[in-house]
Amino acid sequence: MNLTTKSASRAALVTATVTVSLSASLILASSASAATTLGAAAAQTGRYFGAAVSAGKLGDSTYTTVLNREFTSVTAENEMKWDATEPNRGQFNHTSGERVLAQAASTGKQVRGHALLWHQQQPGWAQRLSGSDLRQAAINHVTRVATHYRGKIHSWDVVNEAFADGGGGGRRDSNLQRTGNDWIEAAFRAARAADPNAKLCYNDYNTDGVNAKSTGIYAMVRDFKARNVPIDCVGFQSHLTNSVPSDYQANLQRFAALGVDVQITELDISGANQTAVYGSVTRSCLAVPRCTGITVWGIRDTDSWRTGQNPLLFDGNGNKKPAYTAVLDALNAGGTTTTTTTTTTTTTTGPAPSTCTASASVNSWTGGFTATVKVTAGSTALRGWRVTTSLPPGTTVTNAWSADRSGDSGTVTWTDVDHNGSVAAGRSAEFGFLGTGSVADLAPTCAGS
Ligand code: XIL
Repeated sequence: MNLTTKSASRAALVTATVTVSLSASLILASSASAATTLGAAAAQTGRYFGAAVSAGKLGDSTYTTVLNREFTSVTAENEMKWDATEPNRGQFNHTSGERVLAQAASTGKQVRGHALLWHQQQPGWAQRLSGSDLRQAAINHVTRVATHYRGKIHSWDVVNEAFADGGGGGRRDSNLQRTGNDWIEAAFRAARAADPNAKLCYNDYNTDGVNAKSTGIYAMVRDFKARNVPIDCVGFQSHLTNSVPSDYQANLQRFAALGVDVQITELDISGANQTAVYGSVTRSCLAVPRCTGITVWGIRDTDSWRTGQNPLLFDGNGNKKPAYTAVLDALNAGGTTTTTTTTTTTTTTGPAPSTCTASASVNSWTGGFTATVKVTAGSTALRGWRVTTSLPPGTTVTNAWSADRSGDSGTVTWTDVDHNGSVAAGRSAEFGFLGTGSVADLAPTCAGS
């Protein structure tokens, strides 16, 4: 549940969020002194302030000193991308991503996941795939990575940079796009099923003002909301040079009006007007209640991917630049208050179990059969499921896929495996098995959690 509250702009608002069951309330109080770090200043209006972080730099004490002092959110700069997480098909490596996550968790920061699907930084094997094979690999990637990090990611960039530059407002050509226009919604659905509590974002660049590209994305988000495709947020990378479009705030606001959060996800600004533009971008976010946070794409100028452009808030020695002060002052000046309330389902008695149904279809031949069992979630998402089937005497299970089982004959209990325990409300997972003997009705039952 998302709750946004507008309040008058005034200096140094202090926000506390009280979560009681499924509701949130907001307490505002004035505070005597301005906050002295980006994270604390942003928190006064309920926002986070984040940075892109490289696992390889976590041993650098200048870097971690600034990171830990200033930021309340991190994004892994490269460690959660497809080439890093699935270097070979079906073989996952989360070592570096886990390092970024662990450092964040141990210092109380939230994590933005970046990015499940993108036309760049794909492993070689995926670049060579096409059609249904690529589609299947891509959705499997989303499911497996989002499942791995389930419950630990505040927001996922599910799809990155899928729209074309230039005047058309349409999709970018890519191997993913050539699998069919519905690849983006398929990715969002798979991400929701894998990690129901993460906010799911679409993220792109050159979308900072109202232009053909941002309008194409706007139409997609509106369509997703109308058709209940799960999308919670839109990320504006905001890699800027010397200026920001005059309609930046209006653009953020029009997306927010569709019922999604907006986030500034990769901010860096080069050029002589850097300080003023940083201040202006920060004020725009603060003016939009659903602009829930800002992430800068690196810490020191020397950490930036824009080599030689010095587009960040700290110099190479970790000293604060004038741009830092502009951002801090803008945050301390306050703005609309945003509170994003995570749905709290933890109670002393635990959450009510989710309901599910199971149905089975059987293909028989003399002496054997295969069965396919479909597990369908009720009106709430499943975190896991357990199915029983009744096998008549003389029948034995010899092989099974996509479920663990308790035995081979009689009443067999089947439980979800890593990739198919999370099932969104109303959606289904499948498993199957092979047996000897003959069955007519497996009489499946389902229990959810
Ligand atoms: C960049 C990283 O900063 C570099 O280290 C890497 O070599 C290339 O990617 N848009 C995005 C980010 O979504 O993932 C990109 O990050 C910058 C542009």
